Amino acid sequence: MLYTPIQFRNVELKNRWVMSPMCMYSCENGLANDFHFVHYGSRSQGGTGLIMVEATGVEPRGRITNKCMGIWNDEQAEKLEKIVKFVHSNSESKIGIQLAHAGRKGSTWNNIQIPVEEGWETIAPSPIPYHPTERIPQVLTIEDIKAQIQNFKKAAKRAVKAGFDIIEIHGAHGYLVHQFLSPLSNIRTDEYGGSFENRIRFLLEIVDAVNEELNENVALFVRISGTEYAENGWNIEDSVALAKILKDHAVDLVDVSSGGNIHGAKIPVFDGYQVPFSSQVKKEAVVKTGAVGLITQVEQAEDILEKGDADLIFIAREILRNPYIAVQGSFEMGENCFFPHQYLRAKISS
Ligand SMILES: Cc1cc2nc3c(=O)[nH]c(=O)nc-3n(C[C@H](O)[C@H](O)[C@H](O)COP(=O)(O)O)c2cc1C
Repeated sequence: MLYTPIQFRNVELKNRWVMSPMCMYSCENGLANDFHFVHYGSRSQGGTGLIMVEATGVEPRGRITNKCMGIWNDEQAEKLEKIVKFVHSNSESKIGIQLAHAGRKGSTWNNIQIPVEEGWETIAPSPIPYHPTERIPQVLTIEDIKAQIQNFKKAAKRAVKAGFDIIEIHGAHGYLVHQFLSPLSNIRTDEYGGSFENRIRFLLEIVDAVNEELNENVALFVRISGTEYAENGWNIEDSVALAKILKDHAVDLVDVSSGGNIHGAKIPVFDGYQVPFSSQVKKEAVVKTGAVGLITQVEQAEDILEKGDADLIFIAREILRNPYIAVQGSFEMGENCFFPHQYLRAKISS
């Protein structure tokens, strides 16, 4: 299973390993640099089926920190294009980008809000800060909401031009889209708040706008938090209901993570702790899903796929430790996987 190709639109992933999006906090003015070139490039040499570039701000306020990646201008897209080209011409990996807006969780460093003079005023669906000691975010007007949707659309256009194979919309971890989804962070009384249908509207309008920029050669994923572990908050039933609707809006895969919107929420963490959420969304909404969270072993990953709990395996911290996990797993399992031709002498040990 791990080495069985899978197709999303015309995009074929050679295996089911995905480098999960991970902020590296290493940009100036949102620009990718040599670090990112080596960082993402090396995972392509490790045989990873899909590399997902870190949360990338669709506008300056969409970043979590001043050092986060951005794609709100052409210069940023050009730097990213260099990485995309390397991956495409030197490996069999596909490469995607996670488009994000931090909303009320922006303007921070090391998870602590920084003063407005060093950062910026944050924005959100409602005047509720993530933590009570933080500044009250500015509430988006309907006009602002439409402008944010356009920011995602413009970012998608740049990403397509840069050659990315997959666009992922970051709807998880308490960032702007998630802030709209949750009744605990969204108490609006207009058409973007209140009922489930109203709270998911922002995401659906982003999905539709982004899809206008895509074609059969670029697929669309959405990352969600399956639950936010809070009473009366966004929960797994909501996620299943949302996933069914996302499927109707031409979303190719739901990447199921969890948490991030409620400060202090208790998260039961264990090996594969979010896999049950992926499994439920996959089975009940009949969509393709990605599983993520404390997946560190080849056997464990294979087991998740065999049980039908997910279609893709997103790995984050383990692929930082081991950029070659995909190729290493193929050696262990006797499967085929890209391995740089320059390294062929290392295919046989001794
Ligand atoms: C350094 C770091 C940065 C992260 N940045 C992002 C991000 O940009 N977007 C995102 O959706 N998740 C982000 N995450 C979460 C990971 O993608 C993943 O969901 C989480 O780490 C659980 O997977 P793991 O147990 O394999 O690390 C980040 C995680 C780490 C460790």
